[in-house]
Amino acid sequence: MSKTVLILPGDGIGPEIVAEAKKVLDAINKSGSLGIEYSHGKLGGGSIDECGVPLSDETLALARESDAILLGAVGGPKWDQIDAAIRPEKGLLKIRSELELFANLRPAILYPQLAEASTLKPEVVSGLDILIVRELTGGIYFGQPRGIRTLENGERQGYNTYVYAEHEIERIGRNAFEMARKRGKKVCSVDKANVLEATVLWREVMDRLSAEYPDVELSHMYVDNAAMQLVRAPKQFDVIVTGNMFGDILSDAAAMLTGSIGMLPSASLDKNGCGMYEPCHGSAPDIAGQGIANPLATILSVAMMLRYSLDMPEAAVQVEEAVSKVLDQGLRTADIYTDGMQKVSTSEMGDAVVAAL
Ligand code: IPM
Ligand code: MG
Repeated sequence: MSKTVLILPGDGIGPEIVAEAKKVLDAINKSGSLGIEYSHGKLGGGSIDECGVPLSDETLALARESDAILLGAVGGPKWDQIDAAIRPEKGLLKIRSELELFANLRPAILYPQLAEASTLKPEVVSGLDILIVRELTGGIYFGQPRGIRTLENGERQGYNTYVYAEHEIERIGRNAFEMARKRGKKVCSVDKANVLEATVLWREVMDRLSAEYPDVELSHMYVDNAAMQLVRAPKQFDVIVTGNMFGDILSDAAAMLTGSIGMLPSASLDKNGCGMYEPCHGSAPDIAGQGIANPLATILSVAMMLRYSLDMPEAAVQVEEAVSKVLDQGLRTADIYTDGMQKVSTSEMGDAVVAAL
């Protein structure tokens, strides 16, 4: 049965890294004749330039029809001054929200070959394998009311609303417990329950859910402490579950443990496993067009796509093993380069992964 993958290269380095990831998907598709078909759309700045909005109805319709979406990254200085309502990032938030991609999985795995590339001591990070489960369609990112208003004294005030309904907490919690069941059987729920009521409820719901998963150990941690523990002793974590904003911040920190943010893939799933796959890093406009970006996070996102949306777990493992093989060969893009290794370009890295397959 054929499956449709919507390709959204996006802005900045997006098109470069997506091209490499697509090479890998093509290679898998050919050898395994998966019957994958592609559709193509625009998201972010490129879409603003073309049709005035960061996510057009056409692209959204293509997204709804597809089994999975491969996204590069969105945004850049060109669109920084644009009206906040149509910034490139709004397109990303809208597609996440419209498709109800509430479960964002961000695995931070240290490939042993890259222990030296991390800014942390090898003994602190070697063997690291954390899964951050970030709630993606709620919290302060979407809460109403929001805006910038003018007070009576003429001063302007910015405001946002941090809000979570029980069902939103419950569904992401279940996701985290289910994931933990398949791995280290530990969930650490991260909140700020000493200050924020929304996360007092978050903690309550996690505790309630935990009774249904007696085989999984649940712990709670305040987000400030979690940030510290991530750089102090990251291997204490198995699955971390947290809200939208805390997950955004902690996943960038976790990314650096793995040597480079260029190594961190992600999956954003709805309740049926349909999903959007993208690297955790941004569009890196400063290095766009130079052919030096690391495509591995996007290639590893393809592995997640094969696993979670295309029902091809063996192919997912093949891609992950191919990535490991090219690291064994000493190939490194600039961001993960260390002395004695061979520096390669974006496309050389993609070609090497295809060859390793
Ligand atoms: C991410 C990004 C996005 C987010 C931005 C680009 C809106 O930082 O996916 O982590 O904050 O969710
Ligand atoms: Mg982020």
